[in-house]
Amino acid sequence: PSTEEQAILEAYQWLTKLYHHLLRHTKDGKKGLEYLYQRGYSDESIDTFQLGYSPQSKDFILQFLENKGFHRQTMVKAGLLTTNDQQNYVDRFQGRIIFPIRNAIGKTVGFGGRSINGQDPKYLNSPESPVFQKSKLLYNFDLARSEIRKKSEAILLEGYADVIAVHQAGAKNGIASLGTSLTDAHASILRRYVDTVLICFDGDDAGQNATYKAIKLLKNAGCTVKVANLPKGYDPDSYIQEFGATSFKENVLQASSSEMTFLINHLKKNFNLQHEGDRIRYVESIIGEIALLKSPIERDHYIRDLSDQFDLSYDALNQDLMSRIRNNS
Ligand code: GTP
Ligand code: MN
Ligand code: MN
Ligand code: MN
Ligand code: MN
Repeated sequence: PSTEEQAILEAYQWLTKLYHHLLRHTKDGKKGLEYLYQRGYSDESIDTFQLGYSPQSKDFILQFLENKGFHRQTMVKAGLLTTNDQQNYVDRFQGRIIFPIRNAIGKTVGFGGRSINGQDPKYLNSPESPVFQKSKLLYNFDLARSEIRKKSEAILLEGYADVIAVHQAGAKNGIASLGTSLTDAHASILRRYVDTVLICFDGDDAGQNATYKAIKLLKNAGCTVKVANLPKGYDPDSYIQEFGATSFKENVLQASSSEMTFLINHLKKNFNLQHEGDRIRYVESIIGEIALLKSPIERDHYIRDLSDQFDLSYDALNQDLMSRIRNNS
């Protein structure tokens, strides 16, 4: 690695420790700590994930980094400092809770900073840098890896807060993409470790649309996909807060459905099934999805389902399916 990369990694390592210390042991950090407690995060989680707090000060971090001999320009490149309107170098994350983002070998390569006073944006993340490529990095992969391998299953979540809450609830194979959508690179990393990815995104439209896209990518990479059953209006973190860890494991994770069941429900939203024309177009779009399944037994299962549900001839649906399969190959 170049000396600049080295410097960036070192600065992140120093600041991970400093922010964590400030959260834990200073008067300034107290509001950060109280915020985390009030959200239900335990001391153990706070330490495991090295959560931190960046004080509401323009030059505290600048001074710290300069005393360590880091160059301002490198720290800007690292995303740790930004320049304000007065052309001063200031801490990018001041006043925020710090979520260190670790790479696959556990080194901090970025921070997610959450505001705790309603300030926008809610999350401010490190920009891409020579050591931080969001399209390839999965949050918590380093800690989750052995459990992911053991279970041959990963739980894919939306955010840092969810990963930590799910970990605290006892499911240690949770990971997240970093505020960006899942990429082919993420999917192929996962495929090396697992057969199955259990998607547990937020129970809102954004989460459901992201689930649809993630299914496509993960299936392409050869994963089996399941979708967790999270009620509308909740995310994993808020569900666990309200209903507890046991309910989350039993009623959300274990009650997951197949990717096909998700697609069948999700695609419904685009159609008005009262109308015959819409009904037919909907059935056709489902057959299009079924045609992508590898297993003839699975395909037959869903074709029968459709035929029953819409009172359509099994033979006709099957013919449609077969011609699509021929066209796909
Ligand atoms: P909490 O509100 O703290 O519980 O976080 P959350 O994970 O529930 O947030 P949300 O569902 O809104 O977003 C999921 C992920 O998207 C977050 O973990 C962030 O990585 C990212 N994200 C959310 N809001 C912002 C934002 O304002 N800016 C950026 N850059 N990313 C965001
Ligand atoms: Mn500690
Ligand atoms: Mn969300
Ligand atoms: Mn959320
Ligand atoms: Mn949340």
